Amino acid sequence: IPVDIFDLAVFGATGDLAQRKLLPALFHRDLAGQIPPGARIIGVSRRAMTDAEFIAFAKAALEAHIPAEERKGGEVEAFLKRLSYVTLDATQDQGWDALAKALKPGEDRIRVFYLATSPDLFGPICDRLGKNKLVTPKSRVVIEKPLGKDLESARAVNDSIGKVFPESSVYRIDHYLGKETVQNLLALRFANALFEPIWNSAHVDHVQITVAETLGVEGRAGYYDTAGALRDMVQNHMLQLLCLVAIEPPTSIAADALRDEKLKVLKSLKPVVAHNGANNTVRGQYRAGASAGGAVPGYLDELGSPSSKTETFVALKAEIGNWRWNGVPFYLRTGKRLPDRLSEIVVTFRPIPYSVFDDSAGPIEANRLVIRLQPDEGVKLWLMIKDPGPGGMRLQHVPLDMSFAEAFSVRNPDAYERLILDVVRGNQTLFMRRDEVEAAWTWIDPILDAWAESTDLPKPYTAGTWGPAAAVALIERDGRTWHEDG
Ligand code: BG6
Repeated sequence: IPVDIFDLAVFGATGDLAQRKLLPALFHRDLAGQIPPGARIIGVSRRAMTDAEFIAFAKAALEAHIPAEERKGGEVEAFLKRLSYVTLDATQDQGWDALAKALKPGEDRIRVFYLATSPDLFGPICDRLGKNKLVTPKSRVVIEKPLGKDLESARAVNDSIGKVFPESSVYRIDHYLGKETVQNLLALRFANALFEPIWNSAHVDHVQITVAETLGVEGRAGYYDTAGALRDMVQNHMLQLLCLVAIEPPTSIAADALRDEKLKVLKSLKPVVAHNGANNTVRGQYRAGASAGGAVPGYLDELGSPSSKTETFVALKAEIGNWRWNGVPFYLRTGKRLPDRLSEIVVTFRPIPYSVFDDSAGPIEANRLVIRLQPDEGVKLWLMIKDPGPGGMRLQHVPLDMSFAEAFSVRNPDAYERLILDVVRGNQTLFMRRDEVEAAWTWIDPILDAWAESTDLPKPYTAGTWGPAAAVALIERDGRTWHEDG
């Protein structure tokens, strides 16, 4: 179904996000017939370029990021006709009339301002959009993380945006919420009667959330070294995943119904440092090793600075203080240069209360529900069954396995395809509200402070391994282990 007609102005249009994600996502949605005729995409950036040069730039981006069989000539050309370009330095007061002209004043269409820029430009851009009267009642602004580096700076960013755009027009992207399997978590929990009765501390032993990457910091060392894994992945993506696992059933999936429930979870997180000591967190930094099939340098070499204390790996034990989850640890771990690209949520249920089998049956493992977010999206429910054959009652732990690729033949759309169109539709369900972001920082800040005060350095780990040994110890001292498929 096509969306209403819109103009989309992408600030930072010559940057990495626009090339890798936004332009390909818009092209795919155009191909699917969802972008109405006459909708315009306006690239905005400081770099001096003509429309024709920007169109050539966008064409190259599509060629680099979309497989040839998915972009037939005519369709690419039709998409490129939607594009135009405005050279604009967002830190200056001049040049905004060119953008005003490109947006064709007087036309009553949806306006989306996508700020794919460095966050220190969010405030200045919003301010100048306001001063130049470019913000109409049908305007929306989209911003990307990092939304601040702590609570105070996040509030300042939110304040400067809030001066120009009401909260109902602000779309804070966490691209994990646009991933198909993340949305499937809502379907799994709230479209099935099976799980809800056992989705609580009486039946769940613990939850693990792993987001592992094989990549290093690539070309982003400048940003990454000021952020680190806790700010880059845990404050946003991992806490959002934790929320979707832990929320109470919302009354609907309308934006505020869902976001109210997520906010309650974030506010129920027990402070990690005050209650448990900083030893419930582990931070690591990769050293040279082998990853994704080749030798790779260590983080400090990639950075060119021997003294960085920035973590490229975090493991921590989070606890939620409410009726449903008290006493159920949520173990989170994420890192760069790990052995596999793998994101999954593992819910381990409590063991059976008593075994009717004798020792020859073998050990009885607890049931596990594994929700694989990427790659090989799917759901596995690990059960005990009898080993087939005449060998007596021997038990085996095997998965009921649902692979999305095998079950459905449709293409899995990129998160940005869904999210950009949700902005045009005015649907904020998959975007973070201001209070959620700030509640997440409220929980993260004391961890950052404890690390900053500590004289310990992040623990080294060899690239291509599952992080420092302390991450294994973190879960093993509770008598549990990180889930391994197999
Ligand atoms: C981004 C982080 O938000 O998410 C990156 O800034 C990280 O450091 C990326 O690599 C991971 O996203 P995905 O979709 O590849 O899992």
